Amino acid sequence: MSNIKTIKDVDLKGKKVFVRVDFNVPFDAQGNISDDTRIVAALPTIQYLLDEGAMVVLTSHLGRPKSKADTQFSLAPVAKALAEKLGKNVTFVDDCIGEKVKEACSKMKAGDVVLLENSRFYSEEKKNDPEFAKKLVEDTGAEAYVNDAFGTAHRAHATTAGVAAYLPIKVAGLLIEKELEFLGSKTENPVRPFTVILGGSKVSDKITVIDSLLDKCDAMLIGGAMAYTFALAQGRTTGTSLVEPDKIDLAKQALAKAEKKGVKFLLPVDNAVTQSIDFAAGKVGPLEVMGGNIEEGWAGVDIGPKTIELYKEQIAKSKTILWNGPMGIFEIKDCAKGTFAIAEAVAKSGAISIIGGGDSVKAIKKSGFAKDVSFISTGGGASLEFLEGKELPGVAVLDKKC
Ligand code: 3PG
Repeated sequence: MSNIKTIKDVDLKGKKVFVRVDFNVPFDAQGNISDDTRIVAALPTIQYLLDEGAMVVLTSHLGRPKSKADTQFSLAPVAKALAEKLGKNVTFVDDCIGEKVKEACSKMKAGDVVLLENSRFYSEEKKNDPEFAKKLVEDTGAEAYVNDAFGTAHRAHATTAGVAAYLPIKVAGLLIEKELEFLGSKTENPVRPFTVILGGSKVSDKITVIDSLLDKCDAMLIGGAMAYTFALAQGRTTGTSLVEPDKIDLAKQALAKAEKKGVKFLLPVDNAVTQSIDFAAGKVGPLEVMGGNIEEGWAGVDIGPKTIELYKEQIAKSKTILWNGPMGIFEIKDCAKGTFAIAEAVAKSGAISIIGGGDSVKAIKKSGFAKDVSFISTGGGASLEFLEGKELPGVAVLDKKC
């Protein structure tokens, strides 16, 4: 990983440690946690600190509440789930600053775990208010800061960045270490050939990532609706497909850069197309396959069979693969063929395979191949910003190794 210190580089024995985790998990209509990936991903760091004999004070946000009155954003259910997974008591405090926090944290002994209430119940959290950050440290009595919230590391908030100013030790947890290793080191100095697969609907969302990764990869495969803007850039017709005509120049620049760098840049040679899409009902009209040009009245919804074969060939030759973004509207069963075929090919490639967050994580899980890839990022926006080459504020505040 980078030169950031981690919990393995410092002595936290007997110390009260303020640990920022990302417990921003989804809930179903019945109020149950519907995906506990982020809780599971935080366990190694929590367990490591407990084994070291530290006192662990956990903090996180959940959703985007406006105030404390938005009680559906309480972290109380997460405390229960965490206690079950750790097999030990987790003291939940229904505030993150104030008297209740002081009382619970002052009673802590080595090996105890406290989870504070949603930090976003205070507007000062997102403003990175220095007084609020200071109070978080003072009221908990924390002696060290551990950031393990990779999913929120692109936010400069009080718990992700501000508190670091008030603590002498500030290090990364094991999840952030792993995220930086796979999204960072393994793509900076990849085992070659290094293939990047990018999908999703908009060129505008991915153009900075495309630009940054063209400096590192040997091949780039494009899918999803953003492929249709590239098709326009190549003078093809795209029918009623989702396109960004004002981004054609950006697409042309990316094509020119790929050529200059000698990066093999693959675009779909055929597409699954339809004349009607009903997102609400999760249905599309009858599907056809069209080659280079999509006829008027038809919209592309997935990559076609020839493209799947072409992409699979490149994937099979790769030693490192980074995938971000689905190949089509995979949420609709009939349009998921391309995405699932790519998921299977990536999983079976034997390459170091990295799923770069967001929708591609949903896609790989839905495909059933999640267990067969090397690494799945817990970051959505954070992984994208990191791959763009931006410094993440939640990482920038941590101590460096000399
Ligand atoms: C995420 O889910 O991407 C992170 O938890 C950050 O959440 P936010 O976009 O509400 O800041």
